[in-house]
Amino acid sequence: SGDVVRRDRFSGGPARGFLSSLAADERIFEADLAVDRAHVVMLAEQGIVDEDDAGAIFDALDEIEDAGHGDLPDGEDVHAAIETAVIQRVGQKGGRMHTARSRNDEVATCIRYRLRADLLDAVETVVGAREQLLETAREHTETVMPGFTHLQYAQPTTVAHYLLSYERALARDTERLVDAYDRTNRSPLGGAAFAGTPFDVDRERTAELLGFDSVLVNSMDASSARDFLLEATTALANLATTLSGLAEDVVIFANDGYVDLSDDYSSTSSIMPQKKNPDTLELVRSRAGDAHAAVSGLLTTLKGLPRAYNRDLQRATGHGWEAVDAVIDATEVAAGAVATAEWNEDVLAAEAGDGFSTATGVADLLAMSGVPFRTAHEMVALAAEQSADPDYETLESAAQEVLGESLSAHVDRDAVEAALDPAESVASRDSAGGPAPTAVEGQLDAAEDDL
Ligand code: ARG
Repeated sequence: SGDVVRRDRFSGGPARGFLSSLAADERIFEADLAVDRAHVVMLAEQGIVDEDDAGAIFDALDEIEDAGHGDLPDGEDVHAAIETAVIQRVGQKGGRMHTARSRNDEVATCIRYRLRADLLDAVETVVGAREQLLETAREHTETVMPGFTHLQYAQPTTVAHYLLSYERALARDTERLVDAYDRTNRSPLGGAAFAGTPFDVDRERTAELLGFDSVLVNSMDASSARDFLLEATTALANLATTLSGLAEDVVIFANDGYVDLSDDYSSTSSIMPQKKNPDTLELVRSRAGDAHAAVSGLLTTLKGLPRAYNRDLQRATGHGWEAVDAVIDATEVAAGAVATAEWNEDVLAAEAGDGFSTATGVADLLAMSGVPFRTAHEMVALAAEQSADPDYETLESAAQEVLGESLSAHVDRDAVEAALDPAESVASRDSAGGPAPTAVEGQLDAAEDDL
């Protein structure tokens, strides 16, 4: 008969809804079907389940897949519900599907299977964002802009150098996602509840069928471990943190008139008709909060859990999905907003030298002529103190005071004027990784190769 035999004991009673993860498990519905199929193939190959029964189970799984998650019978989770649905279709023999496994190794396998796809999606999105940053950077190797530390004018740089700084950070975020992928891509299946099984299972085979790189051998580790989920969530939070800095910068740049965001990435006010607001970037910035909350939720849930399986793990999973959902589209939006923004070259050039931000260059010039750098620093600091916008004259009087001799004894006037010019200042800083257009071209080529 097709009747499902399930004991009523432990069916949940008033806590049934509280116990169930069926709704949230929609995310691993496809994964569970894949895991079921791989497991049944292996059981048939090992002679644990006969081929007719395996065939009937496959047919049922196909029907269940076509009907979709929404059509599943009630169950404590997607694993139980799919098993029930199989038995409803093929009768008691459907219950052979759960031979030599537990929901503990099953769910761990499903999470890893789904997370792999999500991580690949994340990597693809970050790579796309990096391509967009590099493309925009290529157009702006000569676009001089103010550079800041402590949000104070610091030294002039270029838009390309600035954008490349984020592309490089995203490159490391990519590496972290790939690292997390490597440790996610290992199979716990066949570990059963935690203590293995007397059946002659072939764990390598199910791992291979599901595309995992290797098997998590210790069966207690296999069903208990969620460090892969924490690692992936943390990698996503790290990425979100990178994006939040970029978003914050561009919000400020929009405020300063350095960039105009495209209308596509802006919003307006319901009352102030003139407003064009950088809402998309503010939401990117806030997504880092979601991702950090996910890391914190996950760490708090996992901390101090005893071996082996505990139901707390059911609540851990969602934190990982929260991070995935918060960060992937934020990456896409951040990249789109930056790639479509208009950089206002005149405003950037006009402000690039503000706040005497070429001062370091003058000190460097003096140091190159033999003045100890600290003395040069002192002289230029004095000039800066005496005037908001020092020129050769202020520097000359500071030289008299600090060096006790004329500036021209050390450097000629033209060199000083050049050092004070933002574009020349940028061009002179051609050390490895520096903002000089020549140095940035090399960095762009290397970044493109890396990509
Ligand atoms: N739904 C559970 C989870 O997500 C798997 C069920 C294991 N249940 C159990 N009582 N051992 O972790």
